[in-house]
Amino acid sequence: MIILGIETSCDETAASICKDQKILSSIVSSQMIHSKFGGVIPEIASREHEKLLNLIVKEALFESNTQLESLDAISVTNGPGLSGTLLTGVSFAKGLGLGLKIPVIPINHLEAHIFANFLADPNLKFPFVCLLVSGGHTQLWWIKDMNKYILLGETRDDAAGEAFDKGARILGLEYPGGPAIEKISKLGNPNSVRFPRALLNKGSLEFSFSGLKTSLLYYMDSYNKSDEVSLADIAASYQQAIIDILIEKMKRAINYTGAKTCVIAGGVAANKILRKNIKENINDIKFLFPDLKYCTDNAAMVSFLGEVKFSHINKNSIEFGIKPNLKLNKN
Ligand code: KG4
Ligand code: ZN
Repeated sequence: MIILGIETSCDETAASICKDQKILSSIVSSQMIHSKFGGVIPEIASREHEKLLNLIVKEALFESNTQLESLDAISVTNGPGLSGTLLTGVSFAKGLGLGLKIPVIPINHLEAHIFANFLADPNLKFPFVCLLVSGGHTQLWWIKDMNKYILLGETRDDAAGEAFDKGARILGLEYPGGPAIEKISKLGNPNSVRFPRALLNKGSLEFSFSGLKTSLLYYMDSYNKSDEVSLADIAASYQQAIIDILIEKMKRAINYTGAKTCVIAGGVAANKILRKNIKENINDIKFLFPDLKYCTDNAAMVSFLGEVKFSHINKNSIEFGIKPNLKLNKN
């Protein structure tokens, strides 16, 4: 079976071909234009997708040596995400699907992130704990089985990716903040500044990052460049605080569920210090990370999940719309 996946939920225009659960191509174009604004401008993002999508799809077909006529279905992210950008991708997918007379499968972006772990290990078995950390979400899931997902905890305020992005802005670094903070942190000492770690009540599986961000803001207000502490030290200490919180909550979720396997998903999962710290701190269970290129937004995860969903969908219906606030079902 051959599936074309399309992803336009935010500022990555992406297309991928998945054949029999193997990714043949995965093309991602990140819209650099937003970096000068320090965040994604939705209207600009939609227009950029509009301009690029046709080309990116052609490239995904070309790279995988696939003809349009051999596609069995198209899968497309329909939420959560920005309304305008989702609409661009979904309209494109529906138009192409109608023209080719093949099914179009709506994909939940969060579920696709989680399923990127099956690309890392096709033998991954349910149940497992998943820490989902992206720009808009920080959640702990107990993934019991296909479509049986229990939310264990989530953030009360900012997402971890947002904490990286806002922290980078405070530090005068570029957008997106995660890679920028990770890069400069390599030159710094993570123990130079003691930022607060909101671990909330004992045993809580919820997160909070807004206090940490405020504390960075206050620190920078009184920071003098001639201080002994460098910008790299501050960035490394801030990053370490986020990582410590994520790891502590993951440990609690593993204890709470008795899980034997734990995975991580979403853009923040690309952070190498987070990965290293997890390996050092969580020993007794199997731990999986998606490939770096499948952590941040991509269409490989969308085409793959499309194939997983194919047998369960109504093949004749394209009557689904965009769902900017789509949640993962909470069975
Ligand atoms: O999953 P993703 O690509 O898009 C959403 O679905 O939101 O996640 C984007 C987020 C951004 O906040 C970005 O700063 C963060 O992931 N991110 C990182 C790294 N790469 C991307 N955070 C920390 N370290 C990284 N290396
Ligand atoms: Zn994402």
